[in-house]
Parts: sequence; structure tokens; C-alpha cells
Amino acid sequence: MEVRRQRRLKSRRPLRLPDSARWTYDELRHCQMGYERLMAWGLEPAEIPLGTYIYESAAGEDPIYLLGMLYFFETKNIRHKPARAQLFHSYGDALSEHDMDFDWADETMHAGYGKQWLKELLAARGQDPTAYDQVRERCEKLVRDYVSTATAEDVARD
Ligand SMILES: [Fe+2]
Repeated sequence: MEVRRQRRLKSRRPLRLPDSARWTYDELRHCQMGYERLMAWGLEPAEIPLGTYIYESAAGEDPIYLLGMLYFFETKNIRHKPARAQLFHSYGDALSEHDMDFDWADETMHAGYGKQWLKELLAARGQDPTAYDQVRERCEKLVRDYVSTATAEDVARD
């Protein structure tokens, strides 16, 4: 009886996402840095496209894919950051170069968070915690499928 009670209590253990406050704060700073650079370049806020395709891609799916999208995008875009920082350097834009380097350093940690969080969620569900890359692969497919439905009008609008 006690063992069953312990198992039940364990299964109700809330999922912990360590460092989620740090991750959220980092992303806020990245948005602020990007926004300030775009404003400094003379863009109007209405000219800045803000897509929702990450969330739309996972609509109606098992919620693990919403968390998986974080891991997918954190790992997907990280490889572009050093090249972008170098481009800003070549333009003589030291502030944008600095911001991109800063972003890149944070994203390296974020990719680790995403992996850790997926492993914890999979384990809490009684699933194989090493299957996080399968979640990532499914997220990649969901995004690819969603983006493939974009019309010419969608592309022109964004
Ligand atoms: Fe990030």
C-alpha cells in the first residue's frame, strides 16, 4: 500500500525546469538588443515581421512538442550566430557584432537547457529520457510541413 502511495505521489511530482527563469530573461535581452538595433537602423515597429509559425506548427500536437520546439530552435539557429557576428564585424557594426556574440553564448547554454528539460519531461512521463532527439526530429518535420503550406501571399506579407 505504501509503495503504491509513494509511486502515486512520485507520478504527481511537478515537472521542474531548472534555469527556466534564466532562459526567459536571456530571451528578453535578446529581443531587446534586436529591437534596439532595428530602431537604430531606422525601421518602424510595424516593419518588423513577427511570425507565430513555431507555435502554429505544434498546434494540436502532444504538448511535449511545444517544449520540443524550444530545443529544436535553440539548436537549429546556433550555427548561424558566429557567421552573423563576423558579417557585422565586416560592416564595421561593432555593437551588432557584440550583440550577436552575446546571443550566441547564451544560445549555447539554452540548447543544453532544452535537452535537459526534454529528458526530464520524458522521464516524468515514464518514457525513454534519451529520446529527446526524436522529439526534435518530429518538431523539425512539423515546422517543415507547416512552412510548406505558406502561400505566395503569406510570403509577400512577411
Ligand atoms: Fe535561446
